[in-house]
Amino acid sequence: MKLWGGRFSKPTDKSVEQFTSSLLLDRRLYREDIEGSLAHAKMLGAAGLMTAEEVDAICSALMDIMREIAGDEFDFDIGDEDIHMAIERALIDKVGPLGGKLHTARSRNDQVAMDMRLHLKRAIKDIAGALVELEKVLLALAEANRETVLPGYTHLQRAQPVFLAHHLLAYMAMFRRDGRRLRHCYEETDAMPLGSAALAGTALAIDRAMVAKELGFSKISENSMDAVSDRDWLLQFLSAAATIMVHLSRLAEELVVWSSAEFGFIELDDSYTTGSSIMPQKKNPDVAELIRGKSGRVFGDLTAMLTVLKGLPLTYNRDLQEDKTFMFDAIDTLAGCLPAMAGMLAGAKVDKGRMAAAAGGGFAVATDFADYLVTKGVPFRTAHETVGKLVKWCLDEGKTEPDLTLADLQKFDSRFKDDALKLVDPITSAASRNSAGGTGNESIAAQIEKAKGQIAEYEKWLGRG
Ligand code: ARG
Repeated sequence: MKLWGGRFSKPTDKSVEQFTSSLLLDRRLYREDIEGSLAHAKMLGAAGLMTAEEVDAICSALMDIMREIAGDEFDFDIGDEDIHMAIERALIDKVGPLGGKLHTARSRNDQVAMDMRLHLKRAIKDIAGALVELEKVLLALAEANRETVLPGYTHLQRAQPVFLAHHLLAYMAMFRRDGRRLRHCYEETDAMPLGSAALAGTALAIDRAMVAKELGFSKISENSMDAVSDRDWLLQFLSAAATIMVHLSRLAEELVVWSSAEFGFIELDDSYTTGSSIMPQKKNPDVAELIRGKSGRVFGDLTAMLTVLKGLPLTYNRDLQEDKTFMFDAIDTLAGCLPAMAGMLAGAKVDKGRMAAAAGGGFAVATDFADYLVTKGVPFRTAHETVGKLVKWCLDEGKTEPDLTLADLQKFDSRFKDDALKLVDPITSAASRNSAGGTGNESIAAQIEKAKGQIAEYEKWLGRG
């Protein structure tokens, strides 16, 4: 007999029980569900809707159920439909009809919204913590490579020399934005929907603020109809998660390319690579590739959730039950990818020589020659044209920029002087770009300081500071 079985004259078809059940997924929410019930029971006591003894009996039975599920001693029955019913049934089995009082002034609609919000709040903090760990690895690598020069690319063609620190700090900037997005998402998730009941609120004298306080929510949801049908907080999380995956995937792609023999910029540690079952020489960047690949799942989670929501009339519709698949998948994927990326980066060996060799000799410093002429009063467009011709001449003559003499330069513009020859050094080029946010040494030092400050502040929010 179902807990809602009163108006039915036939049992649910077995196939329908299977089809509609969310228990295999939402049993993962048991802790939050029971915490919500404990808070709700205490509030019903305070509101005079249960006696103190009734509250005690219900709460102690709920604690027993919590221990049983945690200890894997709980008998889940697919016929219970979902975690809320499974727990309520177990409660009634333990304390008798008194257990039926717990569902006063609440419904599974507000329960599931609360459980998921509470679960997600915790998951966001875990993910934010893993993100910070990755940022620390990036920062350490950046600090160790303040002077390591490599080509910066546009269109994957060598463009201008940059320091590796600057390249890594670009990812740092992305992950800092991700951190802020997660924090904002946490704040939106932090609204307590219990007490919305099925959709319209209740005439019983409940105290929603008390339940919110008990559960550590900073506020209560404002409209009962919105509260049971709103999944914006989940969309926001999935969108933040998808953006993190974009960043991880782009970084993963760079590591794949950089670790190829053609680039040879880095060597990934043996412990973070895998071999081939047929080609004995292979050492493959599978971890990076999987991170890149798993981004697709999380984009799918976001798209799927948007699609589930788009045609739903107010308020709760069973379609919403699909939400858990996407939430758990995104949480689990991030929980796997963030530490994998951190570990892979921490163990990567940088080949400074290969990077420097790629930064010199391929005209990555051409803009520096044009800027030199600009300092002599030449309009930038003219300087660009002149240096373009110089590059073409070098290519025709089979020369690269380190071969250039002052006489060569002066053939193109007499305003080139001795000091222009220093421009062939990619380190000089990169070091000089100290415009705010540039790759110059002072700019890098400022970026590192700023990132450290932001991380420290963020860790305070995480409760680690
Ligand atoms: N298992 C449901 C879900 O996950 C809980 C709410 C069900 N409410 C209902 N009236 N069937 O969305």
